[in-house]
Amino acid sequence: MTVLVTGGAGYIGSHMVLELLDAGEKVVVLDNLSTGFRWAVPAEVPFVQGDFGDEDLITETLARYGVTAIAHFAAKIVVPESVADPLGYYLNNTAKARSLIERAIEGGVQHFIFSSTAAVYGDPESNPVTEDESLKPVSPYGRSKLMVEWMLQDAAKAHGLRYAVLRYFNVAGADPKGRAGQSTANATHLIKVAVQAALGHRPGMEVFGTDYPTRDGSCLRDYIQVSDLAAAHMDALRYLRGGGDSITCNCGYARGYSVLEVIDVVKKVSGVDFPVTISGRRAGDPAAIVAGNDRIRAVLGWTPKYDDLDVIVRQALLWEQHLQKQRTAAASNA
Ligand code: UFG
Repeated sequence: MTVLVTGGAGYIGSHMVLELLDAGEKVVVLDNLSTGFRWAVPAEVPFVQGDFGDEDLITETLARYGVTAIAHFAAKIVVPESVADPLGYYLNNTAKARSLIERAIEGGVQHFIFSSTAAVYGDPESNPVTEDESLKPVSPYGRSKLMVEWMLQDAAKAHGLRYAVLRYFNVAGADPKGRAGQSTANATHLIKVAVQAALGHRPGMEVFGTDYPTRDGSCLRDYIQVSDLAAAHMDALRYLRGGGDSITCNCGYARGYSVLEVIDVVKKVSGVDFPVTISGRRAGDPAAIVAGNDRIRAVLGWTPKYDDLDVIVRQALLWEQHLQKQRTAAASNA
C-alpha cells in the first residue's frame, strides 16, 4: 500500500509527503529536481531521482515499492511560460502524464490523484465557480491540465482505475510546524513576492492592474493554505480506498481576497510598509476566481484548518526567513 508522490520534492508535493508520513502511510517520491529540492524530502522517505515520463523507471518503481496509489504533482506550472512554450507544456504536463497513467494501469495501481488547476475554468462568468461550470481554459497551462482530466475520465471507464482530480485555486502558506514551504527560486506568486518585499529581499513590488470590475479594481483570488490542500489529497485517498467513485473537486475556501487586500495583510502581519507600484494588467489574469467548495466538503469530508489570511501570510513570512537563514549558512560554509 505504498503511495508514489511525483513532484514530492516540490512545494505542494513535499507537504503531501509530510501529510502521508503523519498518517503512517508508506511513501516513495519521484522527482527530477528541475524545480524541487532533495532536502525537501525527509531522509526516511525512499527517493527516486528521475522523470515521470521515463516509462521504464515508472514500471520499475511501481513494482519495487508495491505502489497502489499515485499522487501526481510533478508539472510545469507557470502560466506565461506556457504561453511562450506551449509544446513544452503539452509534452511535460500532458504527453508524459499519458504515459504515467498507462504505466499505472499496467502496474495495477488502483487510485490516481491528479493536481489540476482553477486555470481549467479560464475567466468564469460567475463566482464562486462550481465544478460543473463550463471549462474554457485560456492558457496552454490550463489546457495541458484539462487534457489530463479527460484522459483520466476515459481511462477510468475503460480500465477501472479510480481517480480524484483536484482543481487547486491559489496555493499559499507553509507547513505550520515549519518543516516545508514555497522554496522555488524566482517565484512569481503574489504572497511570496509580497513577503519578500516585506523582508527586504526585493526593493518593492508591483500590482498588475487596478482597473478590473472588482470591489477595489484589483484581481480577486481564493488563497488556500498548502497543508489544507495536502489534507484534501489525504481525504481523496481515503475516499477512493473506501470505494468512492472517481471525482473532481475544487480546492479553495469559497472566498476571495483582492491583490490590494493581500498586500495590506502582508504589511500588517510583517509590520513593514514596503513600496508598492501600480502597473498595467498582466496578460491572461482573470478578474476574479473563487472556488465553490460544497462538493469537497460534502463528499470528501474536507474540513480546512487554516482558512485565515493572517495565518497564511505569517507562515509564508516564517518560511521566507528560514530560507534566508539557510542561504546565509550555505554562503558562510562555502
Ligand atoms: N500579482 C501582482 N503582483 C505580483 C504577483 C501577482 O499584482 O507581483 C497579482 C496577479 O496579477 C494576480 C494575483 O496577484 O491578479 C495572483 O497572482 P499569482 O501569480 O499569485 O497567481 P495566479 O492567480 O496568476 O495563478 C494561480 C495559480 C496558477 C493557476 C491560476 C489559475 O498559481 O497555477 O491561479 O487562475 F493557473
